[in-house]
Amino acid sequence: MRAGILTGGGDCPGLNAVIRAVARRLHANGWDVVGVREGWRGLVENKLEELGPREVSGILPRGGTILGTSRTNPYKLDDGVDRVLTTFRDAGLDALVAIGGEDTLGVAARLHEEHDFPVVGVPKTIDNDLSGTDYTFGFDTAVSVCTEAIDRLHTTAESHNRVMVVEVMGRHTGWIAVMSGIAGGADVILIPEHPISVEDACAEITRRHSRGKDFSIVVVSEGYELTYASGERRQVTQEAATDAFGHVRFGGVGDALAREIEERTGYETRVTVLGHVQRGGSPTPRDRVLATRYGLKAADLVLAGSWGRMAALQGDSIVDVSLKEATAELKTVPPAWYDVAKAFFG
Ligand code: F6P
Repeated sequence: MRAGILTGGGDCPGLNAVIRAVARRLHANGWDVVGVREGWRGLVENKLEELGPREVSGILPRGGTILGTSRTNPYKLDDGVDRVLTTFRDAGLDALVAIGGEDTLGVAARLHEEHDFPVVGVPKTIDNDLSGTDYTFGFDTAVSVCTEAIDRLHTTAESHNRVMVVEVMGRHTGWIAVMSGIAGGADVILIPEHPISVEDACAEITRRHSRGKDFSIVVVSEGYELTYASGERRQVTQEAATDAFGHVRFGGVGDALAREIEERTGYETRVTVLGHVQRGGSPTPRDRVLATRYGLKAADLVLAGSWGRMAALQGDSIVDVSLKEATAELKTVPPAWYDVAKAFFG
């Protein structure tokens, strides 16, 4: 029996740990494992390579993905889906493990639904916005990177009496901003799902400074729309053009927000955009363990022929959920979590 593994969408720390765990468990059960290069593109363009024990050795702590990744969406290409099915059949594959976020797993769910495709999923994304699982792997590492950055910005902010705006990733949801902001003691956190206005953010900073604090840390998600008391909203993007999954390229809201804060409060303000640093490097121990557990579960789903399922974390247990349900809607930051953050504003 032969199983393919692919990693799609933005990379994140822990991908290699999943690949290793899937391959180790399948090898132990007599399966051959094939690496599909660059996400769905590998099945569209027939880019496959054998993944033997040697190939998956020594990769547990390594960031990125040994298979490469892409945001190729076969449903957006002429004959894309037919080519995926043909490559899969011609390579003699019996199963596919798709490791990805809402986009990659959305394709997997659709292929399973429409073509009875033998696929299982593993939830990956630093954004932590997949439903059906409490946490995706990669998120903990991103939060650690952001928290360390906020800690470092604190000391320089304090020395110079400055406001520091930190822009973090999170396309549709503010999980990274909320968690790293709580962990780093941010004074204001702005996220897409609970958009406080620029005026209110400035009022929090002014209130803090009137209490005798002469520096502030503001964390903003890249997907936050500049929101004004008038009701006006402005999305800041680097490029309005969308990718194959309909996403614009974010980046720049931190800059725009910093200018607003400096103008409205009179406090000197600087901005730091953490960008892809959040996705690079070694996974944290927590992400390595989570990725490993997900990988073993995905392999077990393959061995059991449980197609259309996704490994998930619920509480402290690894379970499986339907791919269709996991990708039906995004998991946003609930008000209760934002309230924890807000308790420390101003
Ligand atoms: O989905 C993960 C993510 O890191 C988002 O937080 C971010 O908006 C996007 O990917 C960036 O994508 P790219 O690597 O294509 O710039």
